[in-house]
Amino acid sequence: MAKFIPLSVPNFEGHEKEYVSDAVVSEWVSTGGSKVGDFEKVFADYVGMPRAVACNSGSSAMHLTALVAGIGRGDEVIVPTLTFIASINPVTRYVGAEPVFIGCDDSLCIDPAAVEAFCRDKCELRPEGLFDKATGAHVKALEVVHVFGNLADMEALMDIAEKYHLIVIEDACEAVGSYFTKGRYAGRMAGTIGDVAGYSFNGNKIITTGAGGMVVSNHPDWAEHAKHLSTQAKSDELQFFHDEVGYNYRLTNLQAALGLAQMETLETFITRKKEFYDRYVQALDGKNGYRILPFKEDVSRSNHWFYSLYLEDDRHKRDEVIGALKEGSIQARPVWALIHEQADYGSCQAYSLEKAQDYRARIVNLPCSTNLTQEDQQRVIDLLLSL
Ligand SMILES: Cc1ncc(COP(=O)(O)O)c(C=O)c1O
Repeated sequence: MAKFIPLSVPNFEGHEKEYVSDAVVSEWVSTGGSKVGDFEKVFADYVGMPRAVACNSGSSAMHLTALVAGIGRGDEVIVPTLTFIASINPVTRYVGAEPVFIGCDDSLCIDPAAVEAFCRDKCELRPEGLFDKATGAHVKALEVVHVFGNLADMEALMDIAEKYHLIVIEDACEAVGSYFTKGRYAGRMAGTIGDVAGYSFNGNKIITTGAGGMVVSNHPDWAEHAKHLSTQAKSDELQFFHDEVGYNYRLTNLQAALGLAQMETLETFITRKKEFYDRYVQALDGKNGYRILPFKEDVSRSNHWFYSLYLEDDRHKRDEVIGALKEGSIQARPVWALIHEQADYGSCQAYSLEKAQDYRARIVNLPCSTNLTQEDQQRVIDLLLSL
């Protein structure tokens, strides 16, 4: 049986064991201890923000973004349909809001033209904000997801948000380390452009704390509010007073120890991801009915987190390719089922879906772990070329 090649697994080749062991020896393994604050500081410095708030998952980070943005019952949020479910549930159902789904452009991220068309044609702009003509609801925010680490068209999206008075929530869960190199946001990292953003350190992400997340905001008081909500909204040191409904969304000292070590190797991981990506492009793009979907290399430095093999004609069927790779002990997966078709979202408004449907039908995500060997990658390539 050939060696199993996983899709995306953690890589602990740095100081992880040492830092986690320090935490164990110090006996600060839960939510106290110095490493959470250290990790927040290192992460904030890396993304160029004054403050970062650690929490226990990307999902809780996204929930906190919606809470501090003041999104609540009856509000509407414009969201992409091509994303992971945890982009959507926390900023809509968890806070009682309603999504309006929009398809993607060729970056796989939300399509600015379709967002604009919804705001212009389906809504009315009043002094108090944007209102959906069909439902009467306040369209309060736009959520942008940087899919697979590829940056969305933030210039266009921020312009639309400004014009229509929308709060911008960035889901940068997959885009730690991606930043613009050109244009209005040159030098700005994913997650630092909108009003508020969340990141994920789940096990399959470019760096991991086992499970974990981070929130940043361009409003200092929102960041502080996120911290407060993530720590049970406790308003004093001793008496256990709580001034609103909070959550136990804290990261542990053990997880932060992992995160500190991972931050030290993040840039190495990003360099490697690009090398693997380039190798897939060279070997597969334009061959045998395959394309490797591009990242925005001309305007950004992407983290190249997840690679997308696109089946450009009917020579190959997505699930057959995945099945053939599985037969060869290689893990691959389709892009997510579109969210507007999922339980609880079936009756929501959804617009400009053609590209999202096409990418959903034709993408296969290929192994991309930072510890993928050249031989393993060659095995993936050879198998694909043999189909
Ligand atoms: C786009 C996106 N949003 C949200 C999440 C949620 O993060 P987590 O799994 O850490 O809760 C993930 C990752 O899983 C993600 O890929």
